[in-house]
Amino acid sequence: MKALSLIAFGLSLIVLINYSVLCFAALQVGYYKGKCTNSTADVEEIVRSVTASQYGLDLTVVPALIRLQFHDCFVRGCDASILLDGNSTEKNAAPNLTVRGYDVIDDIKKALETKCGTGIVSCSDIIIMAAREAVVLGGGTFYNVTGGRRDGLISNMTEAELLLPAAEISVTDSITAFGNLGMNVSDMVALIGAHTVGVAHCSSFQDRLYNYNNTGKADPTMNLNLLSNLKGTCMQNSTVDNTANLDQNTLSVNTFDNSYFVQIQQNKGILGIDQEIDLDTRTNGSVASFANSNSAFNAQFASAFVKMGAVNVLLDPFGEIRLKCRSVN
Ligand code: HEM
Repeated sequence: MKALSLIAFGLSLIVLINYSVLCFAALQVGYYKGKCTNSTADVEEIVRSVTASQYGLDLTVVPALIRLQFHDCFVRGCDASILLDGNSTEKNAAPNLTVRGYDVIDDIKKALETKCGTGIVSCSDIIIMAAREAVVLGGGTFYNVTGGRRDGLISNMTEAELLLPAAEISVTDSITAFGNLGMNVSDMVALIGAHTVGVAHCSSFQDRLYNYNNTGKADPTMNLNLLSNLKGTCMQNSTVDNTANLDQNTLSVNTFDNSYFVQIQQNKGILGIDQEIDLDTRTNGSVASFANSNSAFNAQFASAFVKMGAVNVLLDPFGEIRLKCRSVN
């Protein structure tokens, strides 16, 4: 009898411990404080210094790393599934063929494995920390990021093709896609404001220049000077896929500020969705308020990007901490 109650006690202890692991694992600001084998290592500082030195070589790591977080979090949550190499992984999905920054993540991971310790910092947290550094390097406002995500074991190309929005997505479908992940209209508009940095390839907006909605004409909402410039960059039937800046303010191409919103109010949006958010009454109030205030844009962007960073994350004991970001352990 005594043995039986001891076993029962033991079992309930195990259940309790598992339950508390599941309950207490959560995303936390400052999650890596004190977690490195080398107690003097500062994880966020290491991410900062590697990202900054890459930025010194190439300013376009800013858009690359910001987009990487978006494309990771939109598919299976922020689990670094976008980083996995393979024939039919997310990387190979059409919207991801122009995603960049994988090499920067590799460099950060290498530095962390050396300076913090083996298998301590997850690749999914690295994406989130590196994206924050990118925002700050671009001139945006610093915000706190959380850690504690674990890396996923699955990455599927078809899934990414279904879930990532195409350039010509409607405002309605976009509101639904962001809403499904817990983001409201103002969050969505602020997040699309990431198009204040970086480029789009002609193939992403060519339809607006020559055959909008199968009319055989250009999108009538596009500013005529912009239309003529873009037709020069993106010649009809050209075999070269050139790029255009998403923010048409030439002084602010790689700067993370609100000038994108000012540009789209002048009908200088590059992608269909860029222009649509200024034309639609559900979104143009947010566009106007961000165009009027850089700090309002930065504040809303930060809070929405943090929200996005918490979507469907894998917490301990699920997933793993990869040793190399491109493959599961
Ligand atoms: C409905 C929503 C969105 C659509 C349809 C969309 C679509 C696109 C497309 C088609 C490109 C150009 C790709 C190319 O031709 O090379 C692009 C670039 C970019 N997107 Fe978005 N995007 C959306 C939202 C977002 C969000 C939420 C973020 C980040 C928070 C983001 C960040 C970026 C950045 C930074 C670039 C420039 C990338 C570079 O220069 O390499 N986008 N986006």
